[in-house]
Amino acid sequence: MTTESALAWLEANEDAGIERLCEWLKIPSVGTDPAFDDDTRRAAAWCADHLRASGFDVELKETAPDDGRGQPIVLATCGDASTPGPHVLFYGHYDVQPSDPDDLWETGPFDPVIRDGEGGGKMVVARGASDDKGQVAMFLEAMRAWKESGGPVGGGVRWTVLIEGEEESGSVNLERFLERERSRLAECDVCVISDTGMLARGKPAITYGVRGLAYTEVTLHGPDRDLHSGMWGGRCPNPINELVRVLAGLWDGDRKVTLPGFYDGVRGPVQDERDAWSKLGRDAAKQLEEIGLSPEADIGEAGFTEVEREWGRPTCDINGIQGGYTGAGAKTVIPAHASAKVSFRLVDDQDPEKIRDGFFAWLEERTPPGCRWSFLDHGTGLPATMSFDNLYLRAASTAIESACGVAPAMIKTGGSIPVAGLLKQNLGLETVFMGFGLDDDRVHSPNEKFEVECFRMGARSHVELCRALLKGV
Ligand code: BES
Ligand code: MN
Ligand code: MN
Repeated sequence: MTTESALAWLEANEDAGIERLCEWLKIPSVGTDPAFDDDTRRAAAWCADHLRASGFDVELKETAPDDGRGQPIVLATCGDASTPGPHVLFYGHYDVQPSDPDDLWETGPFDPVIRDGEGGGKMVVARGASDDKGQVAMFLEAMRAWKESGGPVGGGVRWTVLIEGEEESGSVNLERFLERERSRLAECDVCVISDTGMLARGKPAITYGVRGLAYTEVTLHGPDRDLHSGMWGGRCPNPINELVRVLAGLWDGDRKVTLPGFYDGVRGPVQDERDAWSKLGRDAAKQLEEIGLSPEADIGEAGFTEVEREWGRPTCDINGIQGGYTGAGAKTVIPAHASAKVSFRLVDDQDPEKIRDGFFAWLEERTPPGCRWSFLDHGTGLPATMSFDNLYLRAASTAIESACGVAPAMIKTGGSIPVAGLLKQNLGLETVFMGFGLDDDRVHSPNEKFEVECFRMGARSHVELCRALLKGV
């Protein structure tokens, strides 16, 4: 009935826990693709069953608006208003990224295998192994451990568990859901998320901030049909030429983004952070080497180090360009239109919607003669940074240190998890990110993996978190 019994149960049942994770990974819950809607729903039900077996009250909540799609949210609770200690919201996502390009997978993306890992131990290879089913499974196993070892449900903590199926597609229905469930969610004291990484193998971390995101798609329309470039080249706008000419103006010679007001409200990184980050021992040259680049490829916004650029500065990236002829061989064509997917990673206190609108207005001002634009908004997410004096940060840190034998590093991430900003903005809730992924987990890529050692650290940390949260209660 103690933390020790729960930890002992975890150890004795680790293989079974990994097997359970593999069952979940076999369900291709590609939330963004309607072809997988039935599977996505099955993955939600699988998670609901797991929590039910650990003693939680579980519901599957529909999220679809009247006129659209929506993946169900797993909402589970244990404890009540009389439960001592904080009321903690655990958030995760059961949807996964599409598996393509499938031919680059060494084994089937939804056919999980356990193989020798790069770090000496074993690893699970499958889509979602690290992002985020494997990390949610650490929490699920910790809760199972409390139940099976005879401890109180949820380790005696009052939990609300929210596992969604739309994170990878921008959490479009989440804000409405949070509003609808406001009364119960507003009671929570803090949110805990396992969907980020460690500093390095064997070096656990607490992530205290994520970047925000504004994702757009812009199309430049020129002539009303594709044309022969011998007859029309040089005589009328070529939408691809014009599009890249305009987009190239997004950065100045220092690789700063040129949109007016883009840096308004940008607060960091502050000097304390810059000092702390420089001592984390990241090796930029080595990280570049791992992706096939030489040290001189360490480029980005002038005046900031690589870690500052990743965690603390906003960026703009073109994520895709389409237009004209892209098949084999040559075709001399002036295309009717060209488009680009352009996204912005944002930091506190940039406003994603303002950045998106500012970008569209900036393009309008630069419309090439005779052309017109059309714009798509693929979603926004707020940046979120938690304050260092948050009470629960200490509990998380104590838990990780007890579970892993080493104190966690304090890091940020360049990635985005939209729910954190929503919780902060709408409910005033801060988030502690306790993630156990590794930089080489190949999230969103072929051959995604999660190392069993990471899974172990995470499951133990979530058992210990219950003790740490209740200490002094
Ligand atoms: N788990 C990731 C976020 C993440 C990535 C954290 C890398 C730490 C390191 C999350 O599932 C994700 O992929 N988020 C998307 C945003 C979303 C709106 C599509 C992202 O960051 O691109
Ligand atoms: Mn994720
Ligand atoms: Mn992801």
